Parts: sequence; C-alpha cells; structure tokens
Amino acid sequence: MPDFQHLTLEYLATAVILLDEELRITYLNPAAEHMFDASGKNLLGHPVQQVFTHTEQLASAMQQAVHNNASYIEHDLTLGTHAHGKLHLRCAATPLQFSKQYLLLEFHPMDRPLKLAREEQMLDQTQANRLLLRNLAHEIKNPLGGIRGAAQLLEQELEKPALREYTQVIVQEADRLRALMEKLLSPQNASHYSALNIHEVLERVRSVVLAEMPGGLTIQRDFDVSLPALVGDKEQLIQVMLNIVRNATQAMQGAGLIVLRTRVARQVTLVKRRHRLAVMVQIIDNGPGIPAELRDKIFYPLVSGRAGGHGLGLTLAQDFVSQHHGTIEFDSEPGRTCFTVLLPLP
Ligand SMILES: Nc1ncnc2c1ncn2[C@@H]1O[C@H](COP(=O)(O)OP(=O)(O)OP(=O)(O)O)[C@@H](O)[C@H]1O
Ligand SMILES: [Mg+2]
Repeated sequence: MPDFQHLTLEYLATAVILLDEELRITYLNPAAEHMFDASGKNLLGHPVQQVFTHTEQLASAMQQAVHNNASYIEHDLTLGTHAHGKLHLRCAATPLQFSKQYLLLEFHPMDRPLKLAREEQMLDQTQANRLLLRNLAHEIKNPLGGIRGAAQLLEQELEKPALREYTQVIVQEADRLRALMEKLLSPQNASHYSALNIHEVLERVRSVVLAEMPGGLTIQRDFDVSLPALVGDKEQLIQVMLNIVRNATQAMQGAGLIVLRTRVARQVTLVKRRHRLAVMVQIIDNGPGIPAELRDKIFYPLVSGRAGGHGLGLTLAQDFVSQHHGTIEFDSEPGRTCFTVLLPLP
C-alpha cells in the first residue's frame, strides 16, 4: 500500500489494522495501538490470530469478507487482548485489492455496559409497573363492589322508572371497570406461545387502525419477507403493535404517514442474553414527535400526553415485549418518531 495512505490512517480516530494475505499484521495505526495498548513494532509481521485471543468471531468476519469480497460488519465482537482482557467491539473487515491481497480491519468500541444498564433499568421498571398496576387494580376493584350494590339498592327505591336508566348506567359502568381490573389482575401466564409470522400480526394491526381512522392516514409496509417464524403470543404481540401504532395515529390526529418495517437483526444482546438472530420491527410516523418533557417516562404507567389517554398503552406493550425477552426503544424528533421492537428468534 502506498505510504501516503498510511499517512492518512495515522490521523484516524478509528482503530485500523491491515493484514497481508497470510493474515499477518502489516500495519496498525496509532488509534489501534491505543485501543489494544500495544506498540506496532512488536506486532508487525505476527499473524493476527496469535496477537489476540478469542478470535473465533474475528476469524469468521474475515472469512466472510474474503468469501463475499465485500465488507463484513460484526456488531458485537468479543476479542481477547493481553493488555485489557476481553474487549467488546464493532468490527468491519474489508478486503482490499492493490498489488496484493489485503484485509482492512476497523474497530469501534461498543458502549455495551451502557446498553445493559439501560436494559436492566427497563426490566426493573417493567416489574415495578406490573406491581403498581396490580395494586391499583386491586384498590379500585374493592370499592366498585360497593358502588354497584348501592346503585341496585337505590334502584329498588326509585319511584319513577325513567330514573332507573341512571342507576343502570352506574351498574353497567361498574361492571365494565370490574372486567378491566380483572384483566389487569389476572396473572399474565395465560399467554399462548406458538410459531407465528410477524407480518400477519402487522397486517391485522394495519387493517384495524385503517378501519378506525378512515381517510388521511397512510400505512406503508416495508417488510423483509424472508423473515423466519417467531415463537410468541400472537394476541399479545398484536396488542403491542396496536398500542404503538394507535399512539402514532393519535399524535398525528389521524392524518399522516406510518411505515411498518421489519428486518432481521444479527448478533444482538437483549436483556443480557445473546441471540444469533432477532426480528426487528420499526414503527415510524411523521407526526409531531414525543413531547420532550415526556421522553424519559412514557413507559411509566399513567403517563399520558393526550386528553383522554390512560397512559397504559406503552406500559402494557413493554410488559408484553419483555415477556418475550425482547426490547422496545424509541427515537423521536418533530417529524419523525420511530419505535423499535426487537424480539429474539429461536
Ligand atoms: N408516536 C408518538 N408520537 C407522539 N407522542 C407519542 C407517540 N407515542 C406515544 N406518545 C406519547 O406518549 C404518551 C404515552 O403513551 P401510552 O400509549 O402509554 O398512553 P396513552 O396513549 O396516553 O393512553 P392509552 O393507555 O390509552 O394508550 C402518549 O400520551 C403520547 O403523549
Ligand atoms: Mg396509547
């Protein structure tokens, strides 16, 4: 490789290593020396697999890159180093053709502890939410019995039959609330897991929401049809997607564009467990965005930014997703809000 190109690599903040066709290190830039705490002089000429330990993933990334003659990115690479022990890195391997075959390796540190801490916090929060909901449901259910009973007694005393209409409303609404509370109290182990196609779930959600919001709303599909089947509870997953899509339509007041996107995600770590494959569902809207003051707490129960909202939709969605060992996150700015749900594949 010509020297002026080495010169440019010297200034990069990204750690770069160049290998010859025998996978021996021919160059490493100062950022790489810093990352691996090793001096280039000592490593030059040594096969990369001897310089590092735990090189299985690196070896397979290099193999893929050479085999496909294209860049291969491993998002969650573990590499053993003498100075720092195991490092978690994002690594891109790119084959280069000059006079000879070269392989270019780029390494970026991954803020994995950060991601794990966030997920752990989310899990704690989900459990706290569940507890809060159950306690609340319990507290509401008790007085409801009293209200209903009193309304029935009152009804017997009423002289004008027309007034019974009002006591009937009290009784019916008390029954409705009671059914809702039962639902919150019932242990959620009533889930039914089976193989399912995530696109069927999204199609259902799409038709329900389009029926609710006639006119003005466009829901586009951007599906990866090669996605393998998922194992999960179909009704719960419909509820998850429905809650997210409904929020989007409500934020856009029924008029705007929603994109439903599915992709395969590889090598993801979800709630401390590593999965080779996961389904990624993104629900993207072009509405006003989530108000800044709500962003830290929209998954909390009873947090709502709209009149008439119960603030339960996202709490339940998060609970169901975490029962599937998945994660739910969002990015939001005015004009673009994207909810990303990751669900591990078996
Ligand atoms: N796509 C979105 N765009 C803008 N704001 C959103 C979006 N999704 C959620 N929000 C905000 O997050 C809040 C919480 O949503 P959540 O679904 O938990 O409760 P809710 O919609 O208010 O009530 P419900 O229990 O009926 O779903 C919403 O009230 C809204 O302010
Ligand atoms: Mg909602």
